[in-house]
Amino acid sequence: MAKSSRVAGQGHGDTVQPARASGGMDRGTPPVPHRPTFVGSGLVSPWYRRVGPVTVMLLVVAYAALWLVARPAGVPTGTFWGQLLGAQSVLLLSMGLVLVSTLPWVERWFDGIDRAAIWHRRLAIIGMVLLVVHMMTATNPAGTALGKTLAQVGAIGLIALVVWSVLPRWRSLLPPKLHWLPDRAARLRAVALLRKLVGGYERWRGFHRLTGVFVAAGFVHGLLDATTFGSPVLRWSYVAIAGTGLAFYIYRELLARRFMALHDYQVDRVTRVGEGLVEISLRPLGRPLEYAPGQFAMVYLEARDGWHRHPFTMTSAPGEDAIRFTIKALGDWTGAIGDLVEPGMPAVVGGPHGRFTHGKGTGHQVWVAGGVGVTPFLSWLRSLDQHPVHAEVDLFYTSAEDPVPYTKEIQAIAARHNEVSVHIVRSAVDGRLSATRILEEVSARPRDLSVFLCGPEPLVAAISDGLRDGGVPAGRFHREYFDWR
Ligand SMILES: Cc1cc2nc3c(=O)[nH]c(=O)nc-3n(C[C@H](O)[C@H](O)[C@H](O)COP(=O)(O)OP(=O)(O)OC[C@H]3O[C@@H](n4cnc5c(N)ncnc54)[C@H](O)[C@@H]3O)c2cc1C
Ligand code: HEM
Ligand code: HEM
Repeated sequence: MAKSSRVAGQGHGDTVQPARASGGMDRGTPPVPHRPTFVGSGLVSPWYRRVGPVTVMLLVVAYAALWLVARPAGVPTGTFWGQLLGAQSVLLLSMGLVLVSTLPWVERWFDGIDRAAIWHRRLAIIGMVLLVVHMMTATNPAGTALGKTLAQVGAIGLIALVVWSVLPRWRSLLPPKLHWLPDRAARLRAVALLRKLVGGYERWRGFHRLTGVFVAAGFVHGLLDATTFGSPVLRWSYVAIAGTGLAFYIYRELLARRFMALHDYQVDRVTRVGEGLVEISLRPLGRPLEYAPGQFAMVYLEARDGWHRHPFTMTSAPGEDAIRFTIKALGDWTGAIGDLVEPGMPAVVGGPHGRFTHGKGTGHQVWVAGGVGVTPFLSWLRSLDQHPVHAEVDLFYTSAEDPVPYTKEIQAIAARHNEVSVHIVRSAVDGRLSATRILEEVSARPRDLSVFLCGPEPLVAAISDGLRDGGVPAGRFHREYFDWR
């Protein structure tokens, strides 16, 4: 049977149904059962990617147990628990500092730098909640003046910087019933002014780097004011934990840049590929970056106001002479990238990073790309000859643009690869892509599917929820985050 791809926006019912050619699967034939994870790309680490999260949980439990076992006599229960929470908070914040150290084994044990960033955020938020309870419950009638000052400096600094960190998400932190509050606030002039002041990522990151200093202040306060450190075990375990976190912080801020694998490139071409969408091609000047399809790099480009560092996914296939990125005008800097970047300009590329690989999937895969979220899938598709996918794949690519960028190229690749069927959804014409529609158009049973997603948060959340409700097992979702904060 001839295989074809479809542009769903040309009418839902009257397009050619994708079908597999020989060697593949016809629609309606029994689905391929779940097969074990394919470990061939070097990116798939079935067990040791869990080492990091499991270690975090074990350390939290072990540290609480140590405090309970080594509890010194004579410390009243209220302040004991208050100090225990303070110490747990220091443990969580210290682990958070280890997670952003950029060391390769962190990436390996947490399944990618992006997941490490997510754990960094989680630990920080839980650590701050514990810290607030600590501030309300810990007491020491003989507390020192210096200890108190350091406590206040540490607490104010950390709270302010963490609130700043979660500001972009504050709408999603509220229950839907209260969403009118941020929506109305967004219209106020004072809020617009505040957004201008604190909005940019680079300004946020500049201040965010100070967080370690405030952890250090809190740490010294603990040493000065604790009434529990009569127990040497508690005192020295505390020093070891905070000392490790702060050592990693110093490494990240002062030394990491010396050890980063950086590669010199030059801008080769800058091509407009769609509305607000630019493709940048970089040619190596020395040793080229080695990467796997779907990985991303930290790209340093020089603009009029200095160097800028942003993460972008390689869309090229490994082994091509140049590396290519497709960049969407989403913010302050990317909005101007088409005018700022010109052929001949220097570029530095750091990495590669990321663990987004189809090798993690089952024998039936659904790839969902929303807008510029197509970038990792472009690399997967362009490298199918060297990095074949061991599965039947349905790629759903939705975009507000018409024509949808890269459609012809993607369809040409799919025509050469029977295992891939393409469903292009032009959202302006055809409406939103939904989980129901995906399940209708895919032949496999939901429980045999694994799903790879990259795109805007609302799209990814809606499709994941819908597919999960439709029977896709929870552990089979893999997503690439374009926003870590
Ligand atoms: C792993 C990963 C892969 C990505 N791949 C692509 C891609 O292939 N194509 C593409 O168009 N976009 C990609 N992005 C998103 C891209 O990095 C941001 O859109 C871009 O950095 C925005 O910069 P800005 O100054 O224009 O926006 P701003 O308005 O300054 O920020 C908008 C948002 O972009 C993110 N961001 C901004 N600057 C940085 C930075 N220096 N480091 C980390 N995040 C930052 C933040 O989440 C911020 O909230 C990727 C992001 C990540 C994390
Ligand atoms: C990030 C780390 C920490 C921060 C930011 C912090 C912050 C604070 C703050 C703001 C207070 C209230 C101070 C006041 O009453 O004015 C406080 C009290 C206290 N904290 Fe911490 N704390 C931290 C860690 C710890 C640790 C690890 C311990 C001990 C194990 C500890 C022990 C105490 C004690 C004993 C008090 C009561 C002090 C008093 O009554 O004067 N703190 N802390
Ligand atoms: C919810 C709260 C937080 C969020 C969302 C958050 C998010 C992030 C992100 C996305 C990065 C990567 C920045 C980049 O490389 O572009 C980062 C880096 C970092 N974070 Fe946090 N963070 C939070 C809280 C904290 C806390 C409490 C600490 C202190 C323990 C901390 C310390 C750091 C440090 C030191 C870096 C490295 C900064 C640099 O040199 O670039 N963060 N954080």
